[in-house]
Amino acid sequence: MSQSHGPDHLITNPDIEEYIESFFPPADDVRREMEEYARVNGFPIVGPSVGRLLYQLTLVSGAEEIIELGSGFGYSAYWFGKALSALGRGRVILTDASRDNAEMARDFLSRAGLTDRVEIRVGDALKIFGGEEGLFDIVFNDVDKEWYPPLVGKAYPKLRKGGLFITDNVLWHGRVLSPEDDSPTTGGVREFTKLLFAEPGFYTTILPVRDGVAVSLKL
Ligand SMILES: C[S@@+](CC[C@H](N)C(=O)[O-])C[C@H]1O[C@@H](n2cnc3c(N)ncnc32)[C@H](O)[C@@H]1O
Repeated sequence: MSQSHGPDHLITNPDIEEYIESFFPPADDVRREMEEYARVNGFPIVGPSVGRLLYQLTLVSGAEEIIELGSGFGYSAYWFGKALSALGRGRVILTDASRDNAEMARDFLSRAGLTDRVEIRVGDALKIFGGEEGLFDIVFNDVDKEWYPPLVGKAYPKLRKGGLFITDNVLWHGRVLSPEDDSPTTGGVREFTKLLFAEPGFYTTILPVRDGVAVSLKL
C-alpha cells in the first residue's frame, strides 16, 4: 500500500488540525513552495505540525549531529536545518534512494539558506546509516514502513546517551488497528512499535500528532 497523506488520512480530526495550524506564523516562500509541491504531487511530507515538533526537539536537546532516514525532497530537513541555524552549529545528513528527490532537496535547501547545515546522500538509507561513524544526537526515521523493524536495533548504538530516535507514521493512518490489515507496511509499523517499547535502553512516547510520532530517548 502506498503512503498517502492529506487531511482525510490524518489521525487528528481535520478541523482540529486546521485549528492548530491557524496559530502558526506564515511560512516563508521556500517552505510554502515545498508544501505546495507536496500537495500538488501527493508527496508524503511531515507537514508543519510535525515540522515544528522536529524544530522544537532539536532546540530542546541542543542537537548538533542529526541524520534523517528517508528525506524525500527535504521538507523535514528544512525544519532540522532551520533549528540548527538558530543554534548556530551542527548539520543534518539527508538520505534518500531517489536522486531526483535529492536534487530537489539541494535546490530547496540552498534557496532556504541552509546549504551549510545539510549534507545530502543518495542510496539505501539503512546502508548509509550503517556506514556512518560516530554518534548522532537525533536519528529521524521516515523510510518505507516495511524497513522500520530493524531500525530499532540499528539506531540504538548510533545515538549518544540522551539522544533522540524520532519516528514518523507510527499510527499509520489508523491501519495499525485493523486486524485484517496484514500488509508489509502495517505489519512493519506494528512490529517496529513492539520492538521500540521492548528496548529497555529507550524511553518512548507516542505523540498522536498528525499520523503519530514516536519519540525515544536513549537512556
Ligand atoms: C515519507 S517520504 C519522506 C518525507 C520527508 N521525511 C519529509 O517529511 O519531508 C519517504 C522517503 O524515503 C525514501 N525511502 C524510503 N525507503 C528508503 C530506503 N530504504 N532508503 C532510502 N530512501 C528511502 C523515499 O524515496 C521517500 O522519498
